[in-house]
Amino acid sequence: MRIRKAVFPVAGLGTRFLPATKASAKEMLPVVDKPLIQYAVQEAISAGAQELIFITGRSKNSIMDHFDKAYELEAELAARGKSKLLETVQDIVPPGVTCIFIRQAEALGLGHAVLQAWPAVGDEDFYVILADDLIDGRLQPCLSQMHRVYQQYGTSVLATQRVPQEETGSYGIVDAQPIGPGLSEIKKMVEKPKPENAPSNLAVVGRYILTPRIFKLLERTQRGAGGEIQLTDAISLMLNEQTVLAYEFEGVRHDCGSKLGYLRANVEFGLKHPELADDFRAYLHEMTAGWHDQDKKRKA
Ligand code: G1P
Repeated sequence: MRIRKAVFPVAGLGTRFLPATKASAKEMLPVVDKPLIQYAVQEAISAGAQELIFITGRSKNSIMDHFDKAYELEAELAARGKSKLLETVQDIVPPGVTCIFIRQAEALGLGHAVLQAWPAVGDEDFYVILADDLIDGRLQPCLSQMHRVYQQYGTSVLATQRVPQEETGSYGIVDAQPIGPGLSEIKKMVEKPKPENAPSNLAVVGRYILTPRIFKLLERTQRGAGGEIQLTDAISLMLNEQTVLAYEFEGVRHDCGSKLGYLRANVEFGLKHPELADDFRAYLHEMTAGWHDQDKKRKA
């Protein structure tokens, strides 16, 4: 059992990062030297995906260009003998992997975006990845961990994480029955509940393995939280028919949809970057030592 198709909803406006996202996609914001969407694509490819389906909107041409062949740039790098950089550019889409772009004419919500992928996904189980959740899987990428669960149970799997109770209003929250370490069966699911109404603090984060049944249910899904067609609501309907598992992945999630989460991701990935790590660590030491000195002086 393999999953071959991955859907990337990338039509959101990215208003939290204006003005950076006025003319360019939020998914193109780089963490150190790679855009968020490329981390997401690499994770999908390493979990077996070969067909990448992007649901795009306005101002998203940069995403299409990023995954397209860049003849002039490649020729220029080759002429200058920059073979390492040439390889970096050519490796963005490995051989055998294809990209499909579907334009979502109206931004009616995540559920609506996923529904647009139906003609390209057809009757297969598939991945959904939200690129602004950048997940640093400890031993294995998050989707590969989920794929292992999928191979064992052959059913939908959602990545989940415990969040502080006061933050439930930012997530899809599940009510789930434990069936093994880090694994539970979802009984109920609510999109963005207030803390006092949340069935738990187990939140869905941006990685899903779904069966194609979800498309029929999305067709029937009415506007929900925030007036949007919510993926969470269609998954709730699916709970009456199929098992859906909540999997608490091993690793760290950086919420790159928020400025603080994005800055943290840059620091953590910077500290792991093969060319930058040493200099960057030295710089951070120097800077924080400066803060300690200033604190001491202030207190003295
Ligand atoms: C979306 C989903 C929500 C999920 C979240 C994870 O919300 O609707 O269920 O918990 O992604 O990041 P958004 O953050 O797009 O508002």
